[in-house]
Amino acid sequence: MAEPALVRFETENGIGIITVDNPPVNALSPGVPQGIVEALDKGNADPSVTAMVLIGAGRSFIAGADIRQFGRGPAAAPPTRRHYDVLDQSAKPVVAAIHGYALGGGLETALACHYRIAVPSAKVGLPEVLIGILPGAGGTQRLPRLIGPKAALEMITSGRHVPAEEAQKLGIIDEVVPEGDLKGAAIAFARKIADQKPLPVIRNRDEKLSEGTPELFEGTRKAIARRARNQRAPYACIEAVEAACRLPFDDGCALERKLFDEQVGSDEAKALRYAFFAEREVAKIPFIPADTKLRPTDNPAVIGAGTMGGGIAMSFADYGFDVKITDATKEALDRGISRIRANYETSVKRGSLAPDEMERRFARIHPVDSLDDIKDCDVVIEAAFEQIPVKEEIFKKLDAIMKPGALLYSNTSGIDIDLMANMTKRPQDVAGTHFFAPANVMKLFEVVKGTKSAPDVLATAMALGRKIGKVSGLAGNGDGFLANRSRAPFGMEINILIEEGALPEQIDKVMVDFGYPIGPLAVSDLSGLDIGYDTRKRRAEQYPNYRKQPIADRIVEMGRLGQKTGAGWYRYEPGDRTPHPDPEVTRIIRETAAELGIPQHEFSDDEILRRLLFASVNEACKILEEGAALRASDIDVMWLHGFGFPRYRGGLMYWADTIGVREVYNQIAGWHQRYGERWRPSDLLRRLAESGSPLHEAKAARPMP
Ligand code: CAA
Repeated sequence: MAEPALVRFETENGIGIITVDNPPVNALSPGVPQGIVEALDKGNADPSVTAMVLIGAGRSFIAGADIRQFGRGPAAAPPTRRHYDVLDQSAKPVVAAIHGYALGGGLETALACHYRIAVPSAKVGLPEVLIGILPGAGGTQRLPRLIGPKAALEMITSGRHVPAEEAQKLGIIDEVVPEGDLKGAAIAFARKIADQKPLPVIRNRDEKLSEGTPELFEGTRKAIARRARNQRAPYACIEAVEAACRLPFDDGCALERKLFDEQVGSDEAKALRYAFFAEREVAKIPFIPADTKLRPTDNPAVIGAGTMGGGIAMSFADYGFDVKITDATKEALDRGISRIRANYETSVKRGSLAPDEMERRFARIHPVDSLDDIKDCDVVIEAAFEQIPVKEEIFKKLDAIMKPGALLYSNTSGIDIDLMANMTKRPQDVAGTHFFAPANVMKLFEVVKGTKSAPDVLATAMALGRKIGKVSGLAGNGDGFLANRSRAPFGMEINILIEEGALPEQIDKVMVDFGYPIGPLAVSDLSGLDIGYDTRKRRAEQYPNYRKQPIADRIVEMGRLGQKTGAGWYRYEPGDRTPHPDPEVTRIIRETAAELGIPQHEFSDDEILRRLLFASVNEACKILEEGAALRASDIDVMWLHGFGFPRYRGGLMYWADTIGVREVYNQIAGWHQRYGERWRPSDLLRRLAESGSPLHEAKAARPMP
C-alpha cells in the first residue's frame, strides 16, 4: 500500500488548500517541506486558483522541525528550493491557518506566508532556545521585522508559547477566528485577499528595525545573564536578532544559519534535546497499556491543611479544579486557609498574579469540617502528619466512607504505601502521589506504586499530575521512594565533606557554578534546618547503623535553624535573604572535627562536585537494580523538576555520561577502597562500566515490585 501523503493539495472554489498531515504534531520531517513546495507550485500553476491556504491536519498546525532528526550525522543536502523562500516568492497569496501549535519552523513557515489567521486556543512561539538552539529558518529575521526587535527578542530568548489573542495584539496574527471551522474561515479570508497587490512579504519590511538600538541588545544580555549562565543559545538568539537590525535580510539569514549550525551539535543542545524526550518518556509506563481507561478526577479533596496540604489544594485551584480541604480540627483548617490566602497575596504583591485571578482561585478551595463531607469525591489526597498511626486511622476511615472506585492517594514522603493500603479493603485503589515543597510551585509529581495498586489507579495518578501542570514520574515503594532516595547520598556527602574541611560557602559556590540556581546549603537554610534534624533523629532511632551528622546537629542545637532565625549554615542581616559566610560556623566545624579526630583536607572544586553527584549516581544505579525506577532517564527528569538540576546538563545520569561511565565507576571503586562501605559500587554500575553502556540509557534490572 502506498504511504499516505504527508502534504495534500486540493482546490475548493478557486482556493488551493495545502494540508500538512504528519501526525502527531505535523513536524517538518523529511518529505514535508518538499510536499509544501510541490503544492505551492501546483497552486501557482493552476489558473483557477486565486489564493492558497496552508493548514495542518490533526491537532496542530506545525510544531517545528523534527527534533529527532537533529544530531543524526551530517544533514542531507539542503533542498535547492526551501519552502520558506517559495512561500515568500509565491505570486499568489498564501494564508496560514493556525490551530494547536505553530512553533519553531512551524511559526517560521507561517511567517513566510502572506497572512496568518488562528483560532483562540492556538499558540505560537519560537521555542528553539529551550532545546539549546536558535530559530534556523529566518525566524530571527522575520519576527523582528513583523513585531519589532524588542518584542521579538522577548519571545525568542524566552521561547514561550504566545496565545493567539496576544499574538494578534503583537501583530503576528492578522485575524483570530472562532473555533470550529478554521478551514472555512481560512477560505473566506483567502477570497477576501485574493486580488490584493502588492502582497505583504515580511522580508521586505524594515520600518520597525530602528528600534533595535545597542542599548536594547546590551540590556537583554544583562537581563538574561542569570538564567542563561553557562549557556550559549540565548546569546546566539540575541546575536541573530541584532543582525536582523543591521544586515540585509539574506545576510541576516546566512548569519542565523551559521549560528544554528554551530549550536545544533553543542553539548548544551544535545542535553536539552535529551531532556525534552526524557520528559515525554517518563509519562509512559511499559506495563500499563496506553489506552487504559482512566478514572474520574473532577472532584478532588485534600486531607490536611498544613503547608503541604495547602500547597496541594492551591495546585488544584490554580488549574481550575474546585477542591475540598479538611483537617482534624477547625483551628488547623482555619490556619491552613489563612496560609493559602497569604501565599496568594504574596504572589499578587510580587506581581505574578492578578488580584481578580487570585480571588477566582481562592474561591475554588472549599474548607469542609470532616471526612464525611468528602465521601463523594472522586479522588482524595491525604497530606496529614507523617506519623504511621495518623495515616492508618485516616485510611481506615476513608475505606469506610468513600464511594466505590474513589482514588485514595497519599502524599507521604516516606511512609510505606502498603501500610496504608492494607488498612483498607480496597488496596488496589491506593497509591502514593508525592508532591515536592512548595507543592504549588515545584513541578515534580512522584507517583508511588504500592504492591497492589491497580494499573488504572497509577495511570490516573500520572494523568492527574499532568492536569495540574506537573511532570509525573513513577516510583517504587521503597524507603524514600525514588527522587529523595536518589538525592539522599548527595545530602549525606555534603555533611561528610564539611566534617573533612570543606566550608558551606565553597560547596555552594561549586554547585552554583555548576548551574544550580542556589547552593544546597543556602537551600537548607531557606527551608529550615529543623526538618532535616528531626528526620535524622527519627532515622537514628530506626536504623542502628545510621550515619550521624554531628556538625549539622550542633548547628541546629545552637538555635541556628536557617533564615527564619537569622542564622543557619550562614548568617543573615535582618530583612535580607543574602547568605553571608559566618566565622562562627567555621569555628563550629573546626572544633567538632577536632573533637572527632577527623583529619582536615583542602578540596578542589571538581572533587566536591564529583563526591556529591557520584554518590547519587551510585544510588540511582541501586534503585534501577531493584526496579524502583523504570528508567535512568526518569531519574534525570526527577532531578530536573524536583531538585533544580541544571537542565542544560540533561540530568544526573546524563551528566555522569559526559564524564564517562568507566571513569565514574573507577572513581567510585577507588573511594570504596578509601572511604569504605558507603561507596560500594552498585552491580549495575559495574556492569555498565564493563560494557561501556551509557548510564542514561539504563533500564530497571527487574520489574517494579
Ligand atoms: N519533533 C519531533 N517530535 C516531536 C516534536 C518535534 N518538533 N514535537 C513533538 N514531538 C513528538 C513528541 O516527542 C511526542 O512523541 P511520542 O508520542 O512518541 O512521545 C509527540 O510528538 C507528542 O508530543 P507531546 O507529548 O509533547 O504533545 P503535547 O501535545 O503535550 O505538546 C508540543 C505538543 C507543544 C508541540 C510539544 O510537543 C513541543 O513543545 N514540541 C517541540 C516544539 C519545538 O521545540 N519546536 C521547535 C523545533 S526546532 C525548529 O523548528 C528549528 C527551526 O528553526 C527549523
